[in-house]
Amino acid sequence: MASEIEVGPASELTPGTVMGAGRYAVGNADGELFAVTRRCRHLYADLANGSIDEAGCLVCPWHGSRYDVQTGRMVLGPQRGFEKIPGLDAFYKALTVVLPLGRGRVVQRDDTLYVE
Ligand code: FES
Repeated sequence: MASEIEVGPASELTPGTVMGAGRYAVGNADGELFAVTRRCRHLYADLANGSIDEAGCLVCPWHGSRYDVQTGRMVLGPQRGFEKIPGLDAFYKALTVVLPLGRGRVVQRDDTLYVE
């Protein structure tokens, strides 16, 4: 199907793993597969290089913002010094209410994952 993006073998997306596929960061949050657009709303870090925290949020590799992968909204703003800037956390949270990360649907056919 033309609108699908191949992710790779399902066996490679183990719990806690994030990988890139086209414009998506695709991950496995404790068995729940997700796909969100891969540019952080803060300074556009590649979220495919991020990690998944204990709550199942996607963590930005640059400044530690955390995203709810179901809604695409930021649940914790930029850290590593940025958290000291008054209002920044609230600004980015509000921004991603209006402009959340895009979400795709991860499907598996045979042993291969796709985003549609
Ligand atoms: S680029 Fe993602 S938190 Fe800064």
